[in-house]
Amino acid sequence: MKNAKLICLIGDPVEHSISPIIHNEVFRALNLNYVYLAFKVPPENLVDAVKGLRALGVVGFNVTIPHKVSVMRYLDELSPDAEVVGSVNTVVNRGGRLVGYNTDYLGVMNTFKNLGIRLEGTSVTVLGAGGASRAVVYALVLSGVERVFIVNRTLERAISLVSEFSSKFPNICLTPMSLTMENLREAIQKSHLIINTTSVGMYPRTEESLVPSELLRSDLVVMDIVYNPLETKLLRDAKAKDAKIIDGVGMLVYQAAASFKLWVGIDPPLDLMFKVAYSSLRQLSG
Ligand code: ATR
Repeated sequence: MKNAKLICLIGDPVEHSISPIIHNEVFRALNLNYVYLAFKVPPENLVDAVKGLRALGVVGFNVTIPHKVSVMRYLDELSPDAEVVGSVNTVVNRGGRLVGYNTDYLGVMNTFKNLGIRLEGTSVTVLGAGGASRAVVYALVLSGVERVFIVNRTLERAISLVSEFSSKFPNICLTPMSLTMENLREAIQKSHLIINTTSVGMYPRTEESLVPSELLRSDLVVMDIVYNPLETKLLRDAKAKDAKIIDGVGMLVYQAAASFKLWVGIDPPLDLMFKVAYSSLRQLSG
C-alpha cells in the first residue's frame, strides 16, 4: 500500500455501504495502487471533512446520505449534470479544485436499460425528495416519462424539487404530494412504476416500508434504491403481489462504475462489480 492514492466515502450512516468492498476489489483485480475508505461524517462536521479531504489531496470522494445536496456549497465547481440534478454523489480533485458530479442518475438509467424496460410515456411514483430522489427524477425526465408523483414526508421539499425541475423540463408533469395514505393511493393507482429513494427499509430497520402492501398490484414495477437488505420489505411485499421488482444493486454498481471512470480514467469490469456486490450482500443478509 506504499504511496497508495486515496478515495473516500463520506456519509452518515456509512456502515451499511459496500462501496469500499466493490472499489477495493476492482483496484486489487486491476493491480491499481488505490485505496477506498468510508468515513462517518455527521452533518455538523461536513464542512471540516471536505476541508480535510482537500488538504489531504485525495483523488476524490463519494458523498451519500444526508450530504448529497449540502456538500455542493463547499465545492469549487459542478458538472452540468450535477448542476441540473441539484445533488452530488461524486467529487473529483482536479489539481486542487473539487469538482462535483452526479453519477446516480446514470445508475438509474443504466439499470432500466439493462433490464430492457422502456419508460417513455409512463407514470411513476417516486418516494422521497432528497438528493437521491433528484437523480432519479432527472433519469426519469431523460427517459421520456410523462408524469411523476413525488411523495415526501416533508411536503415543502417535494414542492421545491418540483418547481425547480418544472422550470427546467416543462414537458414532464410533476406533482408534489405529502406522505399520506390517500396521496399514496392516488399516486400509485395512476402509476406503472414505484421507486423508493428514501432510506426507509434499510438495515437495521428492515421491517419498514412507506407503502402499505394493499396498494401494490401485479402490473406494477417496483424499484428500491436501498440495497441492504437485497430484498427490502417494499420489494418483498411487491413480490408477494407478483409485481416485477428491481433491487438497488444495479443503481449502486452503475453509479460506482461511472464514478470509478471519473477518478481513475478507465472503465472498471462491471461483471466483477456485480459479482462482488451480490456476494457481499448475500453474506451480510446471512
Ligand atoms: P439522500 O441525499 O441520500 O437522498 P436526503 O437528502 O437526506 O438523502 O433525503 C432522504 C429522503 O428520505 C428524504 O426524502 C426524507 O424525507 P424528508 O425530506 O421528509 O426528510 C426521506 N426519509 C428519510 N427517513 C424517512 C422516514 N422515516 N419516513 C419518511 N421519509 C423518510
